[in-house]
This record gives sequence, structure tokens and C-alpha cells, in this order.
Amino acid sequence: MGFERVASVAELPDGGRLSIEVDETPALLIRLGEFFYAIEDLCTHDGQPLTDGPLVGQEIKCPRHGARFDLATGKAMCMPATRGVRTFAVEIRHDEIFVSDEPATAPAKATVTEPVTSERLAPVAASEETAAQTAMAEAAAQDEYLTALREVIDPELMVNIVDLGLIYGVTALDGGQVEVEMTLTSPACPAGPQIVHQARMALERLESVETATIKLTMSPPWTPDRMTDEARDHLGIF
Ligand code: FES
Repeated sequence: MGFERVASVAELPDGGRLSIEVDETPALLIRLGEFFYAIEDLCTHDGQPLTDGPLVGQEIKCPRHGARFDLATGKAMCMPATRGVRTFAVEIRHDEIFVSDEPATAPAKATVTEPVTSERLAPVAASEETAAQTAMAEAAAQDEYLTALREVIDPELMVNIVDLGLIYGVTALDGGQVEVEMTLTSPACPAGPQIVHQARMALERLESVETATIKLTMSPPWTPDRMTDEARDHLGIF
């Protein structure tokens, strides 16, 4: 398909988003200031729509397990996602927004006058700034947890458990409690108890963590495509 009109610039306030379809693919059109981005609306980790995900700077965070994707490039910025989402080219023509199914090479820019709200749009919260700060703090905490978990090495593959794709999510609860959902490369993995113990210890060494609870799951089962490119390189898998 070529470029198709999806909305007018005035319909999309700063920080607003609009659910659209691009060539039968669910997509999100997002505006940050004068820039407009269109990305696939499906997390590559486990298929969660990104529709309600908070924006963290120029990234959108999956509301399910916290993977973040760059709005301009679609790149997966943190675990548990290892693959990026599609981006779509956006053009602004005479204050109208057009989207194509071609990948974006740069965000579209518009000279914006007064934004006009529309009933079609998700409401922009009055406390948007606070929400953005909270989201950034959460993202920093996630980075801290994953950095700690990278210290845990699978003794059979000699790759850390984050890059192996064993971590499905880390949730911070009240009172310094952290809950990790993770898997093993196979249910009979002999190193399983050791890995789980080390993951718990790695998190509990952090000042911000009082207690870490590890929940093992085999659903969905681990597959090699959950590994990062670094892990594949290390194991010689191309
Ligand atoms: S479904 Fe998005 S991070 Fe798991």
C-alpha cells in the first residue's frame, strides 16, 4: 500500500496516541512534540498489545513484562523482548497525517499550532508528567534488576540467564519485594536449582531489594529464538 491518511495533526495532541491499522497490521500512531511515529502494536515477547504502554522518553514500555521499544527504530531496548517491532513511515502533508507500510527511516515532523483534543483519542492524564517520571523510575529499576541477573551464568551454556532469554519478567512489589518469572532451557535442566538460587541471591544483593521470589514456569517453553544476538554469537548460532 502507499501512504494513506489516518488523521489530522490537530487530532493528535502532544503525548497522544491513536490505534490504527497499517495493511491489516494493528499499529500505534504516537506524537511526541513535533514528531510523529508509527509502530506495530504487538510486543514481540509474548504478543501483548502495546496500546496502553507508558511512554519513557522516546520508548514505549510493554504493560505486561516491561520490554521497551524505541519509537523511531522499533528496536527492543531491554529484556524480555529480543526482537524489535515493525515501524511504519509517517508523512505530514498539509496538516494531515499519512502512514505507509514501508519501514520508517525518520519520524515525521510537523509545525504544530494549537492541539485539539478528539473523542477518538485516549485521554491525556493531567498527571502525565508524574506518570512519565514514574515510568522512568520503573525503567531504571528494571535495568538494575536485569544487570544483577546478568551475573548469573548458565553453567552448561556459559551464557548469562538474561541473554539466554530465561527471564520472562521482573515485578517490583511493595516493601522491597521483587518477583521474577523465569524459565529454564528444559524442565529437566540439572543446573535449575543452582540457577534459581543464584538469581535470588543476585537480586537480594541489591540495596533496593529486600526479598526476591523466583517463580519458575515452563509456559511458554524456552526456545533458542529467545536469546539475544550476543548469546547467539557466543554459542555460534546464526
Ligand atoms: S509480552 Fe511484552 S514484555 Fe512480555
